[in-house]
Amino acid sequence: MSALRVAVLGATGRLGAYACRVLEADQGFELVARARAGDDLARVLRGSSPDVVFEATAAGLGARHARLALESGARPLVATSGLTAEEVRELDLLARARDLGGLYAPNLSRGMWLVQRAAEELARHGLACEIVEQHHDRKRDAPSGTALDTARRVREARQAAGHAAGSVPVHSVRLPGLLAHQEVLFGAPGELVTLRHDAFSSEAYGPGIVAGLRHVARRVGFATGIGAAFETERGA
Ligand SMILES: NC(=O)c1ccc[n+]([C@@H]2O[C@H](COP(=O)([O-])OP(=O)(O)OC[C@H]3O[C@@H](n4cnc5c(N)ncnc54)[C@H](OP(=O)(O)O)[C@@H]3O)[C@@H](O)[C@H]2O)c1
Repeated sequence: MSALRVAVLGATGRLGAYACRVLEADQGFELVARARAGDDLARVLRGSSPDVVFEATAAGLGARHARLALESGARPLVATSGLTAEEVRELDLLARARDLGGLYAPNLSRGMWLVQRAAEELARHGLACEIVEQHHDRKRDAPSGTALDTARRVREARQAAGHAAGSVPVHSVRLPGLLAHQEVLFGAPGELVTLRHDAFSSEAYGPGIVAGLRHVARRVGFATGIGAAFETERGA
């Protein structure tokens, strides 16, 4: 199979630069464009004709960039925080109309995906839950997209098991010295269960970048969550 042509948006950033290193080292990919703030992204995409686009720019820009990718005929993997459920629905319609795939991955880490699965299992027992997320002080959005996604999953898992969806309060901390950390706390009389995930470097996101880009190359429609990509890789 020929290598997937990939464009990285946000290629000078912490996550984008790491993605470029991972994709350059992987024979399954050909890095055909790197874009940053100030570039005419529509022109970059037209000029480089990527199959897939890795989007890692800044909160609030992900939906617009995913739309540009789909309109250029490419399949986006959006890592940038902050896509709304409404934006994901609109992107899904656009992707399906063009027979293309795409994914919004609020968190690319396999460890975090496993924490979310464990949180869903605990939520099925109806325990009270709160989330504490801690990030570096340059992160613009709060709460984090991952915390909001985890809270949604807990509420949905409770409901699916016949409990009230209830609330899942999220507490945000922004301090220098932190990178990306999340605790999901489940309390019941006399006991506490804590699920904790710490990302210490961008290496936590490498397998998700590769699996996510391979996944969007195969699927039709735009969805949320990296889980299906990891499940496909595991079954491959
Ligand atoms: N899903 C995940 O697992 C995950 C993990 C880590 C981070 N993130 C998210 O990924 C995003 C990037 O994080 P980061 O830490 O790499 O940020 P960063 O270091 O600030 O890098 C941002 C990148 O985006 C570019 N950029 C900024 N505004 C732009 C615009 N209007 N058009 C095109 N490019 C633009 C910047 O270009 P210049 O260098 O020219 O300014 C830079 O290349 C954030 O939303 C973050 O929350 C997600």
